[in-house]
Amino acid sequence: MSVTYNERERMFRLDTPRTTYLLCVTGGRRLVGHVYYGPTVPDDNMGYLLGMGEEPVSPGMDARDLAGFFDTFPFEYPAFGGGDFREPCLKVRGEWGVGNCALVYESHAIFPGKPALSGLPACFGETEDCDTLELVCRDEVTGLRVRLFYTAFAHMDAICRSVRVENGAPSALTLERALSACLDLPGEDMDVITLYGSWGRERTVERRRLSHGKQSAESWRGISSHQYSPSLILCEHDANQDRGLAWGMTFVYSGNFLAQAELDQNGRVRAVLGIHPEGFSWRLEPGESFQTPEVILACSEEGLGGMSRAFHDVMRRHLIRGQNKHRPSLVNSWESFYFNFNTDRLLELGREAARQGVELLVLDDGWFGNREDDNSSLGDWRVNEKKLPGGLRRLGEELNGMGVKLGIWMEPEMVSPDSDLYRAHPDYALTVPGRPYTLSRNQLVLDMTRAEVRQAVYSQIYEVLSTAPIDYLKWDMNRQLTDVYTPSLPPERQGEAMHRYMLGVYELQEQLTADFPHLLLENCSAGGARFDAGMLYYGPQIWTSDDAEAADRLKIQEGAALVYPFSAMGAHVAACPSHTNGRVTPFETRGRVSLPGCFGYELDLNKLTEAEKAMIPAQLAEYRDYGPVFRDGDYYRLASYAQNGDFDAFMAVTKDRSRAVIITVQVLCRPNVPPRALKVRGLEERTLYRDRTTGVVRSGLGWMRGGILVEPKMGDFLSTLTVLERVEKEA
Ligand code: DGJ
Repeated sequence: MSVTYNERERMFRLDTPRTTYLLCVTGGRRLVGHVYYGPTVPDDNMGYLLGMGEEPVSPGMDARDLAGFFDTFPFEYPAFGGGDFREPCLKVRGEWGVGNCALVYESHAIFPGKPALSGLPACFGETEDCDTLELVCRDEVTGLRVRLFYTAFAHMDAICRSVRVENGAPSALTLERALSACLDLPGEDMDVITLYGSWGRERTVERRRLSHGKQSAESWRGISSHQYSPSLILCEHDANQDRGLAWGMTFVYSGNFLAQAELDQNGRVRAVLGIHPEGFSWRLEPGESFQTPEVILACSEEGLGGMSRAFHDVMRRHLIRGQNKHRPSLVNSWESFYFNFNTDRLLELGREAARQGVELLVLDDGWFGNREDDNSSLGDWRVNEKKLPGGLRRLGEELNGMGVKLGIWMEPEMVSPDSDLYRAHPDYALTVPGRPYTLSRNQLVLDMTRAEVRQAVYSQIYEVLSTAPIDYLKWDMNRQLTDVYTPSLPPERQGEAMHRYMLGVYELQEQLTADFPHLLLENCSAGGARFDAGMLYYGPQIWTSDDAEAADRLKIQEGAALVYPFSAMGAHVAACPSHTNGRVTPFETRGRVSLPGCFGYELDLNKLTEAEKAMIPAQLAEYRDYGPVFRDGDYYRLASYAQNGDFDAFMAVTKDRSRAVIITVQVLCRPNVPPRALKVRGLEERTLYRDRTTGVVRSGLGWMRGGILVEPKMGDFLSTLTVLERVEKEA
């Protein structure tokens, strides 16, 4: 069992292969306290870690300074108003108009498997994969019931948490915050890591000393955002890629979030993650409940690398439903043609794709309505027959005839003021009555809280996808939410709109994947503004960034890989000089940087030089042969260009440890430096491995202790690819 209860100690244990999570109910007041989360400990009698003496004792039965006690107690799910002045997870406005709430243990259940979260993306697991603890707490005054869900996985070091809040009161209550998870840990000598960025610079890793006060990553942009990623990592100050304790929290949600760590007066850290309370409220009538999105926790003693591998494993096996879908090599029309294409140009591109063995052509923005630039037509998902006579069907059939599949781009959540949809239904767009709307990229956001709006869009998507041979959909979303008002809710419930918007989008994608199970869905949001575990539940890959230039991409993909598997990352060889930064990089290196993700070309294949074209078959073969090692195997970061400024290296090993692929990029040449011995990771120590290129055979230990030698070369942006393969004989 991954979850057990020790009645004598009133201790709940969640065990994963290498970690333990302990929580305990105190005597007396029946508070639920967080005891421990870290490497496996066999003991249950750890209640002393609550800071209340040897045994879990009742706090302050002498109520002289209960507030002071509450301000230090490591609450498993802290509530507002009772004296705990650190970040609360729960705030509920009841009949007196105040947000106070005090949760005490009521009951619990432990069962195999994991329940789905209605309407929300969430990890899934069969009875043999995981156990779930449902811990029921109650606020005696309001009658509010809070169900804390914890699922521990038997084969991977990850735990899922979510919360369901139920109104057991006779009158309505309003949630003013309902975060998904809290971790109260000893916080001295810790670092905190978040991912920040902007368009074209997503997921930059920022590591800093955890200091007193609050440090957060957050979004109230209606999307998880370019600016911050919905994850928070804590680690020992001296933790590195291989060693030291690291804890990660990531949100299975794509809208507003708050991820925050606070080092408190007593040297403890409280880390919380959930829907951002800014602008949020949710009214619960008697008997109604609110389900928070899920948080995945991962913990490892093998440093940040171990934590990343735990996240990758749980997402690939228990979250990403399309994980096993074939990820075709593709060519995308966006940076090839932008809006300037017609069937002939596309077929010309398709012919070159077919000649080279590229499997799919993605027709990006501009194929519908009157769209010749980004000023119009979003919402009018009818093919532009002037550009594409015979429509998508003819294009698809002709491409299919060449052996190339067709994918298309859509932006279903948006409407252009210059569109038939907007002219017929201006109220479908999110706008605040009496205020001018705020355009972004010349477009408005559709009110996805409303079923009729979703239906108006979905019927068009359905028509497009069912009348042409389309195998792939890139679902884009190019702006943040402003002017968030929906006529579907009364004024006092407008705080629900942002979350209801996300639920509406999830409902649409659920419908889409059910109706078109063969479709490969790639999500996108102006590059990677909605790159999160929520979207990965519906589509197995996400366009990582509009900056596909190789050197920048190394940083962006390193940041993403801290939490998300390479199988989630759309990664393309882009045109040169780069359309985002003007840099010129070798075609070979662009291929190597894209190889670990979902590979494609973001350029006009017909404009490549003959020498570049000649490299494509080898790139496609590398993608076919080595891509799966990254997408399905264990990832190790060996060197970081983002940190050292000139050299990058990363690798992956297959799960059966039979093959390792190591990619290095000398981003900038430094004169007069000796060769680097790059220590390989993750091999079986006593197994022999052969370097596929040089034929050199060494034991796993030899490669791991000695490393592969990377010779410095003259020039910038130069890459190497090394493949080590098991020799079927013991050393
Ligand atoms: C933003 C995406 O990130 C690009 O790849 C491209 O699809 C454009 N939108 C099209 O408008």
